[in-house]
Amino acid sequence: MNEVRIAPMTMAHIPEVLVIEQASSVQPWTVGMFADELEHSDTRTYNVGLIHGVLVGFSGVLIQVGEAHITNVAVDPAHRRRGIARVLMLHTLRSAIAHRATAATLEVRASNTGAQRLYHQFGFVPAGVRPGYYADGEGAVIMWAEDVSADTYRSRLDSIAVLTERVSS
Ligand SMILES: CC(C)(COP(=O)(O)OP(=O)(O)OC[C@H]1O[C@@H](n2cnc3c(N)ncnc32)[C@H](O)[C@@H]1OP(=O)(O)O)[C@@H](O)C(=O)NCCC(=O)NCCS
Repeated sequence: MNEVRIAPMTMAHIPEVLVIEQASSVQPWTVGMFADELEHSDTRTYNVGLIHGVLVGFSGVLIQVGEAHITNVAVDPAHRRRGIARVLMLHTLRSAIAHRATAATLEVRASNTGAQRLYHQFGFVPAGVRPGYYADGEGAVIMWAEDVSADTYRSRLDSIAVLTERVSS
């Protein structure tokens, strides 16, 4: 059993991040978009997941006026359904709470029920739909997790952390 290690994303990670991004998104972010996010580290936190030094996933969050906006989460297709996104989300949300976020939100494709399930585990619930949000015309489901700074939410994350101890490569 090999644990995924979480580390802050740096510019040096971007080539590997791009490979996963391109395998994961219909409209992949560019190198410039990732670099721009990393340059704004005062309001953004990006992490990578590494197994034996190999980058297997990443996640990002933008924190503004107490709201954490999950901007991107992706895992190498060859490493999916092993709990890696769960570990990434756990670190991302704990980081957001440490940066005084009190609520978290994200947009997810209406058809992306796998990701919606992942987010549901972290207390995100659908709060609305934005029709035609994506360039290909698909709508986005807006999800929110409220009161993430409350003790009950921290306990929820602690329970998820127990699950993540089983993550293997
Ligand atoms: C969504 C994504 C990040 C999930 O990564 P992952 O490492 O495979 O997810 P995990 O193994 O941590 O899954 C955690 C839970 O999420 C849910 N889940 C994740 N992927 C799922 C899928 N394809 N189908 C159903 N449920 C899924 C399950 O409840 C899972 O728990 P379980 O395996 O114990 O049942 C990955 O599929 C991906 O990179 N997709 C393309 C990019 C993307 O859609 N990002 C989200 C944009 S909003």
